[in-house]
Parts: sequence; structure tokens; C-alpha cells
Amino acid sequence: MKRIGVLTSGGDNPGLNPCIRAVVRSALHLGLEVMGIRRGYAGLLDGEIIEMNGRSVGGIIGRGGTILGTARCPEFYEPKGRKEALRSLNRFGIDGLVVIGGNGSLTGALELWRMGFPVIGIPGTIDNDVNGTDISIGVDTALNTILDAIDKIKDTASSHNRAFLIETMGRNSGYLALASGIAGGAELVLCPEVEVSFEEICQTIEEAYVLGKSHCIIIVAEGWKPGTQVLAQYLLEREDTLGFSVRVTQLGHVQRGGSPSAFDRLLATQMGAAAPRELLKGNAGHMIGLVKNEIALTPLEEAVAFDKQLSPQMVELAEIMRK
Ligand code: F6P
Repeated sequence: MKRIGVLTSGGDNPGLNPCIRAVVRSALHLGLEVMGIRRGYAGLLDGEIIEMNGRSVGGIIGRGGTILGTARCPEFYEPKGRKEALRSLNRFGIDGLVVIGGNGSLTGALELWRMGFPVIGIPGTIDNDVNGTDISIGVDTALNTILDAIDKIKDTASSHNRAFLIETMGRNSGYLALASGIAGGAELVLCPEVEVSFEEICQTIEEAYVLGKSHCIIIVAEGWKPGTQVLAQYLLEREDTLGFSVRVTQLGHVQRGGSPSAFDRLLATQMGAAAPRELLKGNAGHMIGLVKNEIALTPLEEAVAFDKQLSPQMVELAEIMRK
């Protein structure tokens, strides 16, 4: 193997730049050439590929986003698109590929591997829904952003004696909501994985009011059904009995930006540096993860087989802490 490519794909997250930097610098250290592929699989299909050196990744360790750009690329999920991708990789003399992204991007990596191309994956998504790793790149920074928002909302909520629904991202996973709810001292967390009735939600708000709390913070995962807006409408119609008046904040894409935290910079550097090394060792077809604080490999097939499940201990912890 002489020349590898690196791409970031799918939703961006705040740890991508330190990860690209680590892939490039570790590959150069191992005597490999590195090509940066712009805009994920879309740029691979379009041949948007540039040579990278140590300087191309200078000054990016503290920057959010991705210097390579990213995209969601439906064409790549068709066999024709993947054949074009292989053609492009051959045209640029790339003989190994590092894919940094979430479940969709890693499924794409698995497909290329199944077609015989040496690929290695790195889990990068704020959703923390990838198997084979305790935590994905970007999660910690996103959590810190959410906590900052919760703390600020608590200030205004307490001043006005209000209940707030704060909606977090996470697609179908409740991880961001659950972890930020525990760390942010929320009164209730609503996740897609845990059933809670509207009556129970009203009861929680009423209890908080009767206990003399100055606010009631409810974190709602975006994947929770029937959704934040439906719940908000229901609660607004019952403000008289709840005690608190109700407001809603949808945090949205602010969760995906910002300078990576110390944890994310370290994680991204460890995972990124491992990728070229593992490719050279013949470990293509795997994803690099962090398991019990050690870098570990999981076959891509297992990593993307199903979404990572919420820890029942964390669900219980949120329940114990909220009273
Ligand atoms: O997968 C990351 C994520 O931020 C999810 O949490 C969210 O559902 C989705 O991407 C939003 O995607 P987009 O940026 O395309 O709107």
C-alpha cells in the first residue's frame, strides 16, 4: 500500500478536523502518501481529490466542521455509484481508504470493502449510535454545547418559573438527550427508547411545581414520538393545572459546531492515527473504536448491523437523579 485516501461523510461533527489531521500525519509518518477527498462520497464520485501534506492540516486541531467538506450522497448507495467510486480511487492511484462518519457512511465503507477495496472506518457522529465503540468522535463536544444551553435556559426558566422542552439532535437515538439530561440536572428526559405517557409528563411537571422548584427542564430527543411540538401543544393547553408556563427550545445544528473539546481532540487523534497503521497491518474491513478506554477494532459488518442501544444503567440513573 502506497497511497491512501481520507474522506468525511454524512452529518459533520466537531471532531472531524483533528481526526483528518491525525490520519494525514500518521500516514506520512508511516511513509504513505495521502489524498484528501472532498465532500465525502460525492467528491469521490466527482474526482474532487487533492494531495495532502503535513502543512495542509496545520492549525485545524481546534476548528469545528471539516476542512474536506462533507455530504450525503444517495448515488453512492446504488451499485452503479459504488462502481464509479472504485474507478475514481483507481484513477487517483489510491489503494486504501479511511472513512470518517456515522452509520450511513460506515455502511458505504462496508460496501466498498465487500467489493474488494481496503477500507477502514472511524466513527464520527454526535448521535453516538455506532456499535463497536463506547463513544464516537464529536459526541463530547456536542454534549458540552447542550449543557451550556441547558444552563442558560435554566437561568431564564427560573426567573420566570417556567417549564422548558429542550429538543436535542440524535436522529433515532436518545443518547444525547439522556447524557445531557443527567449531566444537566433535567427533571425528565424523553428518548425514543423509553415509553412515557403524556399523563406521566404532566405529573412530573406538576410535582416539580409542588416541590417548590423554580423551573422544570425536560430534554426531548428529536426521535421521540409523537414529537416535541405535539407535546408542547398538549402542555400549553394545560398550563393552568401544571403550575409552570411552558416554552420550547430546539437546539438544532448549533450542536454540530464549535471547537472540539479536549476529549474529542484526543479521541480523534488516537482513532485517526490508528487508521493508516491498521490499514498497513492488513486490518481493512474494520472500524476503529474506543472500548474500555483502549483503541479496538470491530468488523464493519458488526459495527453497522444495528444502532447502538442505550445503557439501561444510564436510563435508571436519569430516573434516580431527577427527584
Ligand atoms: O446524524 C447527525 C445528525 O445531526 C442527526 O442528529 C440529525 O438528525 C441529522 O444529522 C440532521 O441532518 P441534516 O444536517 O442533514 O439536517
